[in-house]
Amino acid sequence: MTSVYTLTWGIVGTGWISERFYKDLLIDPNTRDVSDVAHKPVAVASRSIEKAADFIKKFTESDEVAATVKPYGSYSELMADPAVDCVYVGTPHDSHYEYTLMALRAGKHVLCEKPFTINAAQAIHLKAVAAEKKRFLMEAVWTRFFPLTIAMEKMIHEDQIIGPIRRVFTDLAQITPKDPSHRLNNPAAGGGALLDLGVYSTTWMLSTCYHHPKNEMEKPTSIKANMIKSEMTGVDESTVVTMTWPKVGILGVSSCSLMVSSPYESVIRVQGDKGDMIVPIHSSRPEKLVVHLYTSKPYEYEEKVFEFPIPGWGLFWEADAVARDIRDGKLENERYSLDESILAMSIFDEARQQNDLVYPASIEAVEA
Ligand SMILES: NC(=O)c1ccc[n+]([C@@H]2O[C@H](COP(=O)([O-])OP(=O)(O)OC[C@H]3O[C@@H](n4cnc5c(N)ncnc54)[C@H](OP(=O)(O)O)[C@@H]3O)[C@@H](O)[C@H]2O)c1
Repeated sequence: MTSVYTLTWGIVGTGWISERFYKDLLIDPNTRDVSDVAHKPVAVASRSIEKAADFIKKFTESDEVAATVKPYGSYSELMADPAVDCVYVGTPHDSHYEYTLMALRAGKHVLCEKPFTINAAQAIHLKAVAAEKKRFLMEAVWTRFFPLTIAMEKMIHEDQIIGPIRRVFTDLAQITPKDPSHRLNNPAAGGGALLDLGVYSTTWMLSTCYHHPKNEMEKPTSIKANMIKSEMTGVDESTVVTMTWPKVGILGVSSCSLMVSSPYESVIRVQGDKGDMIVPIHSSRPEKLVVHLYTSKPYEYEEKVFEFPIPGWGLFWEADAVARDIRDGKLENERYSLDESILAMSIFDEARQQNDLVYPASIEAVEA
């Protein structure tokens, strides 16, 4: 019988996504057929100790388990706790760089929520610090660890069931409250569609094109972006980025919006010579894959539907990957490397630059 490796976690921030991540850590891995790794949250930090204690009480079903999770009233205290192996950063965009740096310097491994940073320069710096400290670091792009995503990559790249791919359309659009103080509308919090929802459109583009075996990790060329900016705050409300992948002859279109919702039936669309593959809503949390295999008659096809149930919220698959990497002494994940996060951030930099979307200097800064 193989032994189980248990990773201990410290959760930083007690908001929407931290709640889901924490609850997923508490789900028995056997319910998703995982028996080699397990998770143990040992600490939760908030800017208020009461909030951290409430979080633990509210989201831990067993009182016995809750008693083993320590609340902290500051993030730095959690990072100094020797019981914490890996810090999960679940705070707003503009603080990812600061808290990830803080955790790495405290000697912790880090899983940081998306977007990794505000710009590529900050991401490059984090990669260097993680290497210097010999600590594992990954951006929490959970979608990349879903069984559907892994199966779809195999169908496209290995089994080539839709033949050579020619065009890829990726989207994530979600209606956001028109409140100027909402973090997604606030430039000082790195707001806008691109850095929030565009992460998903971009990650699907990278999984299908950047990871195409014949692409050999070439970066995209001819990146062209258009944005509609908010009259309220100036952040991007809707963005479309087109790019080409010359080595594999693919044209890519990635879009995101805070103003409308993605079309329900087709959010990700990959088109090849022999058919196409479609992921309906949600492209961040995918559970259904529709494959159309073309017949000899135009517009006629055979349809195959694949369902991938999610036994929880689905954040545990990335947590499992982190645990395996840390167990194996790796500093990065092979499916979602730091260079890929840097590439995504550099695409966002380019899109922002082409459209004069500038954030306050304080959140764009890189430590000397
Ligand atoms: N992977 C996903 O599916 C997913 C989904 C949603 C969000 N996210 C990412 O996760 C991050 C957090 O998003 P969220 O929706 O969870 O946000 P949220 O509900 O507003 O929670 C953010 C938490 O961060 C802490 N925080 C620290 N500094 C803060 C500040 N200046 N202003 C407000 N909160 C601050 C707060 O916790 P304390 O008060 O306890 O300190 C707050 O509860 C974002 O970067 C977002 O992109 C990822």
